[in-house]
Amino acid sequence: MKFDTPATTNPIDQLKVIGKPTDRVEGPLKTTGTAPYAYERHDVAPDAAYGYVVGAGIAKGRIASMDLAAARAAPGVITIVTARNAGKLGKGNFNTAKLLAGPQVDHYHQAVALVVARSIEEARAAAQLVKVTYERTPGKFDLQAEKAGAKMPKPTAFAGPPQSKVGDFEGTFPTAPVQLDASYTTPDQSHAMMEPHATVAAWKGDKLTVWTSNQMVAWSVGDLAKTLGIPKANVRLVSPFIGGGFGGKLFLRADVLLASLGARAAKRPVKVALQRPVMINNTTHRPATIQRVRIGTTRDGKITAIAHEGWSGNLPDGSAETAVNQTRLLYAGANRLTTTRLAVLDLPEGNAMRAPGEAPGLMVLEIAMDEMAEKLGMDPVEFRIANDTQMDPEKPGRPFSQRKLVECLRTGADRFGWNKRNAKPAQVRDGRWLVGMGVAAAFRNNLLTKSAARVRLDNRGMVTVETDMTDIGTGSYTIIAQTAAETMGVPLAKVFVRLGDSAFPVSCGSGGQWGGNNSTSGVYAACMKLREAIAKKAGMPAADVEFADGMVRSGERSMPLAEVAGSDGLVGEDFIEYGDLDKKYQQSTFGAHFVEVAVDAATGEVRVRRMLAVCAAGRILNPKAARSQVIGAMTMGVGAALMEELAVDKRRGFFVNHDLASYEVPVHADIPHQDVIFLDETDPISSPMKAKGVGELGICGVGAAVANAIYNATGVRVRDYPITLDKLLAGLPAVA
Ligand code: MOS
Repeated sequence: MKFDTPATTNPIDQLKVIGKPTDRVEGPLKTTGTAPYAYERHDVAPDAAYGYVVGAGIAKGRIASMDLAAARAAPGVITIVTARNAGKLGKGNFNTAKLLAGPQVDHYHQAVALVVARSIEEARAAAQLVKVTYERTPGKFDLQAEKAGAKMPKPTAFAGPPQSKVGDFEGTFPTAPVQLDASYTTPDQSHAMMEPHATVAAWKGDKLTVWTSNQMVAWSVGDLAKTLGIPKANVRLVSPFIGGGFGGKLFLRADVLLASLGARAAKRPVKVALQRPVMINNTTHRPATIQRVRIGTTRDGKITAIAHEGWSGNLPDGSAETAVNQTRLLYAGANRLTTTRLAVLDLPEGNAMRAPGEAPGLMVLEIAMDEMAEKLGMDPVEFRIANDTQMDPEKPGRPFSQRKLVECLRTGADRFGWNKRNAKPAQVRDGRWLVGMGVAAAFRNNLLTKSAARVRLDNRGMVTVETDMTDIGTGSYTIIAQTAAETMGVPLAKVFVRLGDSAFPVSCGSGGQWGGNNSTSGVYAACMKLREAIAKKAGMPAADVEFADGMVRSGERSMPLAEVAGSDGLVGEDFIEYGDLDKKYQQSTFGAHFVEVAVDAATGEVRVRRMLAVCAAGRILNPKAARSQVIGAMTMGVGAALMEELAVDKRRGFFVNHDLASYEVPVHADIPHQDVIFLDETDPISSPMKAKGVGELGICGVGAAVANAIYNATGVRVRDYPITLDKLLAGLPAVA
């Protein structure tokens, strides 16, 4: 199905199943511990041996020698995989050959060996006996120090061009009556998902199956095949349940490659879970940024000039953090400049983490907007509203398909009690607590990408959906079941959804908050094909059939679907693909975050008291699942504001706090009260579902709303995240 004209009324609009706060269809499997996660596939590989990863002990250099004798002789050891015996590894799309180091070492904890043994204890014990000596080369580990040498990266499909210029920023800014020029930093952050990267790999002849935890099944099949130098058709990847990804599982990682190599060498299935203390430096993280924002306005608060520049670092072939990109679209202003620069660093690879670009970008831009509102003596909600635009500010004449930022801000201000905020900082006391409120806008694009599915109807009237789409905890199973039930006119209980298997049609996968809209659109397309097949078999005119209550009807005739299916059943398979509607219209999602904090006047301890998110993100397919996405994202945003930071050892080049004891994330006690409001909207430009995404929108802006609330509470403006109490102490008002 090609989607190239705005959606008109279709079966989804019935809203009998779609739009309902349905419980997770796979919830019982998860709560009873029977959902098979990758490392628990005892059913498929009961005889699996255990792999244990040895990570490089240096950040940059060479392996001078490896002594494996003691490890090989240790009890239970079956084989040890290193770059010397692994055979030649090919380069996938993401330089996957580097998932196994040697002799060159590119970053700390890059895998140098996999020890395979009968038990995990034996593998772990033997791994300690692997003796590696290194020749260290000096590396670059300090973003601030490398900032001056950073260059503009090549444009990519995801990132767009590294620079955009509209009008004359440099000429206009100095003449603006009110000006802000401020610099900010955001730290490296870890995905810290609950389930580690884990894989069971098994070979049958030259055919490989991996049961793993991966967001993008087709990408990773392609990369695994290229890396191993085998045909794609010989690789099957199965990833039905994922304990969180946040972007850390978009790509093939070391667990998949090493389990595959280990299983080939051991001649039996091998399972590998990246040990938590190795995971953080071995895999990817959200890169740290330095950002500079300049805003110039008229006296009455109209932006005339806006510039946002961002710097991040990465390994030589790594990508840049596109923290400036939302500034191309979020506010009006005739003179504009955005620039992304990338420095080479020898730290572990930086890559996508929940709302890559926008998350750190809005943490900064939305503090700058707060600072500017204060300079103008304007309410920060009103300042944002005064600079709303319904047109792409960089491309005259190109409208947003839907843009309800103003409604999000107004609704939120009303519901949160924003009028109770004291505009003057450090005025509100509650015992020893200083209390303040903050606001920030949320913005994230809506990306359209091809997605396929297959739907079967059987003689029990069951509808089975198959697509390689993944569910990373987001609710894919549930919204896909709702889509099929709605389109086929059957109850939810009559739909069975099978996901995350490369044997199924290729979907959009889970990433960039595109999963919900695109995967359900692909399922909708396949269901429409199945409806045609049913009508044809029932001898009814395809243009005049109705599907409801498990029946197909046309005029006076009706038949149960089960009967039409017959013993052979019927199948519909199709994909959604898109024309150029997203070139004619800018498709984005919008929101507003409101936060109240209390800061201990004596210690600087920050407690978040209340949070509200208002989101405008097209049709909400399942308000319960969507709300869960947003409150999870808000929680992650509080982590980003107050605690999350990978501490860089700038001499040795690694993240020091590489475990969940020392990489701090919010716990229940940190998050007292959260509310989410979805504006009632449908976007017929986005897809037949008229939906968009919310999973990443929810984190965008949260950090800044917290930062702005802290400023309002204390009068201390912190421009370097996370806002830990040491950064507040010196500026706190004297305790009476
Ligand atoms: Mo997302 S960071 O594209 O999983």
